[in-house]
Amino acid sequence: MTMTISPSKPLSGTVALPGDKSLSHRSALFATLAAGHSRIENFLISGVTSRMLDALTRMSIPWKLEGTTLTVDGKGIGGFSVPFSPLNCGNSATTIRFLAGALAASGTPAVLDGSEGLRRRPMDRIILPLQQMGVNIKGNNGFAPISLGVSQLPLKGGTYIVPVSSAQVKSCLLLAGLSAREPVTVEEPGFSRDHTERMLAGMGVSIHSEKKVIDGSPRYLTHLIPPSTNYSLKPLNMTIPGDFSSAAFLIVAALITPGSEITLKNIGLNATRTGLLDVLLSMGASIQIVARPSSNGEPVGDLTVRHSPLKGININGEQVVRMIDEFPIFAVAAAYAEGASIVKDASELRLKESDRISSLVAELKNLGADVEESTDGFTIHGHGGLIGGEMNPHGDHRLAMSMAIAGLASASPVTIQQPEIMDESFPGFANTLSGIGADIKVNSENTVKESVQA
Ligand code: S3P
Repeated sequence: MTMTISPSKPLSGTVALPGDKSLSHRSALFATLAAGHSRIENFLISGVTSRMLDALTRMSIPWKLEGTTLTVDGKGIGGFSVPFSPLNCGNSATTIRFLAGALAASGTPAVLDGSEGLRRRPMDRIILPLQQMGVNIKGNNGFAPISLGVSQLPLKGGTYIVPVSSAQVKSCLLLAGLSAREPVTVEEPGFSRDHTERMLAGMGVSIHSEKKVIDGSPRYLTHLIPPSTNYSLKPLNMTIPGDFSSAAFLIVAALITPGSEITLKNIGLNATRTGLLDVLLSMGASIQIVARPSSNGEPVGDLTVRHSPLKGININGEQVVRMIDEFPIFAVAAAYAEGASIVKDASELRLKESDRISSLVAELKNLGADVEESTDGFTIHGHGGLIGGEMNPHGDHRLAMSMAIAGLASASPVTIQQPEIMDESFPGFANTLSGIGADIKVNSENTVKESVQA
């Protein structure tokens, strides 16, 4: 299958987006830790979240989806049954790392595995600190599959220093910390997304974060006091806002497509996630933000975006973590800008769904960009546009969607191979884009089977 995106007329309209991926993963899993009935609206139904739900089924946790409303009957911390087969986390690093933490807290033995792509992603970053906490866990030379044996509870508390800012690692250790004897502190060099902290606090867990300067460098510390009983967490009753990381594709779509103006409703605007907004505003983007009532401690707003001339920008340091998932779409904006954009301190991108430095640079070059790779980032010399062509998404949903957006304003169409990968995080991507005026055709085996042209 391929998807072809042709240079577009102006985009216009108002769009509501599927629920946030990070909040969907957390809500499904954290609901199991409460004793009682949780109700979660606007849950993201996608490739990666279906892996989490499937894992819950395999651990005998009752859940139900009606439309996009998920209900879960949690059994409290330690309420998992020993899974009846290995838990297949597919391509989802969030699923495998979160499950490892929750299984550690419940002392439940299990095997966690996933796709070839997931098996290439580093797992020592959770295995080693979990072992220090007393968890009986081992990987395959630092990679999946991961095996958890029976662990002696309670686990050991204390301070765990995470060398790379990662909300997946932080969340894994905080989840394990729910069954620790003493308080747990996770220390990171940058402040990774804090959805876990906000959601656990809403469920009654004593948890807070602080910034400290240690040996002259800023450090971000998150402290958790384990709850007194296995059953003391409150069930969730929440509506998940639209995913900012999905909104990012549409924001850049409107910015680069001449004459466009679109509004995105009820988007999650947690400041630990919205680094791209600040960057685009500094590049000259016209984006109006209207705040809406927050949802379970998560800021929400509507965004109105108009086509804008953009100029290049440099990104480094702590800014990187606040937009860690948005570099592929940022790179498209930078290619449509005038002037150089230099990204540094972003070597973590090499450990995502693909090596997002080399795959991004290769695919942007295919579309005519003037771009160079460095060890920890890339430089794009923006010349106000791209030529178009065919691209390989390297099994990476965000790369596929970013290059699709590039096709809206390139000189000739962009064709994406294996566009099905987009469903990992944003099912309905093509329909959403065509709904605001984009010209998208999905081709099956070289025959045009379906056209989603507006
Ligand atoms: C996520 C954290 C990020 C991000 C991923 C989702 C989360 O990963 O890339 O898409 O929900 O906590 P890292 O924490 O490994 O950077």
